Formats: sequence, C-alpha cells, structure tokens
Amino acid sequence: MQVSTTTKNISQLHSACTVIPLFEKTKSQLCAEIDKISDGFLSKAIKHAGFKPSFKNQLVVHTPHLRHKTIMLVGLGTKSELDTDKFNQLALHIATQVVTLNLDSVLYCFSNIRPRGSSEEWCLRQLALALHQTCYRYTRTKTSKNKKSKAVKASKLKRCRFQLTTDNTQVRQTLREADAIAYGANLARELGNLPPNICTPNYLVGQAKKLKRTSAKLSLKVLQEKDMKRLNMGAFLSVSQGSSEPGYLICMKYQGASKAKPPIAIVGKGITFDTGGISIKPSATMDEMKFDMSGAGSVLGVLAACVRLKLPVNVVGVLACAENMPSGKASKPGDIVTTLSGQTVEILNTDAEGRLVLCDALSYVQRYKPECIIDIATLTGACVVALGQVTSGLMANDQALADALLKAGKLSGDRTWQLPMWDDYQSQLDSNFADIANIGGRWAGTITAACFLSRFTEDYRWAHLDVAGVAWHTGTKKSSTGRPVPLLMQFLISHSH
Ligand code: BES
Ligand code: MN
Ligand code: ZN
Repeated sequence: MQVSTTTKNISQLHSACTVIPLFEKTKSQLCAEIDKISDGFLSKAIKHAGFKPSFKNQLVVHTPHLRHKTIMLVGLGTKSELDTDKFNQLALHIATQVVTLNLDSVLYCFSNIRPRGSSEEWCLRQLALALHQTCYRYTRTKTSKNKKSKAVKASKLKRCRFQLTTDNTQVRQTLREADAIAYGANLARELGNLPPNICTPNYLVGQAKKLKRTSAKLSLKVLQEKDMKRLNMGAFLSVSQGSSEPGYLICMKYQGASKAKPPIAIVGKGITFDTGGISIKPSATMDEMKFDMSGAGSVLGVLAACVRLKLPVNVVGVLACAENMPSGKASKPGDIVTTLSGQTVEILNTDAEGRLVLCDALSYVQRYKPECIIDIATLTGACVVALGQVTSGLMANDQALADALLKAGKLSGDRTWQLPMWDDYQSQLDSNFADIANIGGRWAGTITAACFLSRFTEDYRWAHLDVAGVAWHTGTKKSSTGRPVPLLMQFLISHSH
C-alpha cells in the first residue's frame, strides 16, 4: 500500500472513501466543509441516522454524487478522554472498517486530532501502521481448489492519503517508520503462520540468508550442532537432539551506526514446534506450538525493518532455532547438562525447553560485547494466565532498560508490563543434583523462568520479554500478530535519537 500526504482543503480533494473523526459535543470544521459542497447533505445524513460520535461509534454514508464517494464518520468520544491508548485502539478499529469496505483508496482527515501527550506525527504513524498491518493476509498454503473452503482475498487497498496541516521531512520520516515497522511485523507474522513442516530451523536459516542479501549492512553467521558441541552448548543441544531436524543458532549483525558503538543484542526463542518432548503436552491446541518460534521471527522482523528504515543503530540478532520432540534421542526428566556458561542444569521438565536454548544463546551473544541484551520468548503459559493476551511480560536486571521498554510499549501501542524479579524467587530453582533446575514449581512460573535466564546474563544489562500471550491470536482469529516488533522498533528508534 502506498501512503502519501496532502495539505489541500477537504473541499478540494476527492476520494473513494474519506474518514472523518468527530469529537462529542464539538463542531466539526470538516463536516461543515463537506456540507458546503453538498448542500448540507452530511448534516442531514447524521441527523437522519441519529449518529452520536461516542468512542468507536461509526457511520458510513454512501455519497456517490459527491467527490468523496463514501464518508466514514468515526466517533472519538470526548476530547478530554482521548489518550494515546484509546487512539491506538481506534486506529486499529478504523483500519479494519476501511479494509472491509474493499475499496482501492482512502483519505484520512486527522489533521487536528491530538490525543493527550501526542503529536500530529505520532497520530499519523499509528494510523498508517494499523492500516499497513490490517492489509496483511496469509495465503501461502491456501488454494482455491475446493469451492467450499473460504477463499482468501488479498486486500484491495492500494493507496492511503493523509490530509495534514503541514507537510515536512519529519512527516515523511514518520511514514517511512510506519512502513518499515509494518514490514517487519508482517514478516514476523508470515513466519509465525507458516506450518511447522515448512517453517523448520533450517527454513529460518534460509530466511536469514535471504534477508542478508538485501543489505551490505548485514552479516550472518550460522552455528550448526557440531559447532555448538565444540563450544559446549549442552543446554541448547539437549533440546535439538530429540528431533531429526537439526538445530541452528543464527547470528545476524546489522551495522547501521559507527563500528565503535556497541550493538544492542536481541535474542529470540525459535522453537519451530514444541511438543513438550518426553514431558509431552496434551493434544488440544498443540498445533499452536508452531508459534513457539515467534521470538525468533520477531528478531528477523526487527532486522528487516532496520534495513528498510536504514536506522542508524547497531543490532545483533540471535535466533535460537530447534524443534522440541520426543524420541529415543530426546532428553529425559532428570538429565543433567552443562551449559556454555559452565553451569550445570537439571532438566526436570523437557517442556521447559525455551530457557534451555535461550541460556546458551544468551551466553554466546556476550562475545559481541553488547550495550544491552533483550530476549524475546513465548516462554510460559503462566504469563498468559497472569496478563492475558493484552500485554507482554517484562522482567529485567536493569531498571533504566526496563523503563525504556515500558515507554516504547506505551508509545507503539504494543504494550508490555513489568513483573518483579526479586532474589526471593531464585531459590525455587534449587536442585539437589545440579547448579540449577530448569523449572521452579507451581508458583510464579513466568518469574522463575526469567530467574533462570538471569543466571546467564549477570554481567550485562538485560531484559526479558515473555510474549506467550501476545504473539498470536487464538480461536477463530488464530494468526500471528507480529508482536513485539512494533515495541522493539520503537525502542530502537528512540535509542537512535
Ligand atoms: N512454549 C511454551 C509456553 C507456552 C505455552 C506459550 C502455552 C504459549 C501458550 C513453553 O515451552 C512451555 O511449555 N512452558 C511450560 C513451562 C513449565 C514446564 C515450567 C509451561 O508454561 O507450561
Ligand atoms: Mn515447552
Ligand atoms: Zn516452548
């Protein structure tokens, strides 16, 4: 979809669909302008429908006799109540409505809307981002062979224009950001949605190679199992050994700023399918464990977005890719392995595999001497129980880093919420036979998982994002969301200033 801007007055413009936001109890200049060129038609339509601009309320008026062929009025509620969280909800709501109209172009007239604590550029970016993301369709493994199955139609929307009061380089930069963030998020979504017999660890290696070819700023190093054996990455290998699909540690560097600047490291859990291993999961909804590589997918998404945006930052992205399967070679409850850090781990539950691949990846990434490390993982079902599908869980050993991520979450609308990681929880990981157990019992499962990872990141500023609840939608809307690409991109963009 192409996005452009205009500073022309609404009465001089024409479009297939024009979106006009309205506050409660406030006269709309835009409606007055349309009335002027339509002999009061819009006011009459509003009155006729009894339309009230309460939050998310909407009215679609078909006006083929005007230069604005369809007018979509959207209620914003009261001016004082509109904040950035509400605006983000609205941006998504409008995008969904616009895309279902199935037209090829749209005009957004939001030039005078400023939710509390935001700017015109921010509103513009969130509207464009929501629209870009709403246009995504998964089609890769759908055919039209069976007439009874629902056909997936590509979104027809090709152009979006924004009517603004000013048009400058900042506005254009904002639109580039929206385009890049959506591009990265949509890549992450596609990888998440692919079935686990296509999206294997080896497939992700291919995707990394493909991405590398798009920019000279990228470099790629792939560790095979034999390399990991040589390095003593016993925790990672204890997971991949159960599968006939080989595991890989994919390391990509994006050099967008001076070489002297230490990179930001992002490390993603890339379990392309999580059966639980010998501690096997129940069958119901096990198919959703194809999304267990969403952390790794978001790392590739972020790198792709950085390339597209030519963002002046240095980023090291690591994807810890393996399949968690039961087999004669799979690890057993009670097995003890030695990690790259030298610490031993007692595997009490083979379904707590994410932390096993991640701990070695977190130790490995330290050779890049990063400024900070952020890992992204669909790590615990307990996180979904605690926070639902609204927000990711954040835990960190550095409050400044946590604060920066919280802020990026709020700004991007891809929110995160901090959980405590006090030392009091650490003893839940005590083992009689190894330095540390890989599970911490029934209580605070999300926190003890983070505590496990914290044993491997003590020398660095580190944050952990548990995205188990937000990486995909369940039920009839089952689909990858691309989160937390918007959050991470906001973090990097803010960092680059
Ligand atoms: N990938 C799962 C976590 C998960 C479960 C994410 C359901 C989203 C929905 C992870 O590998 C896992 O199995 N975690 C276990 C940990 C437990 C054995 C300590 C869990 O959450 O049950
Ligand atoms: Mn698991
Ligand atoms: Zn898992």
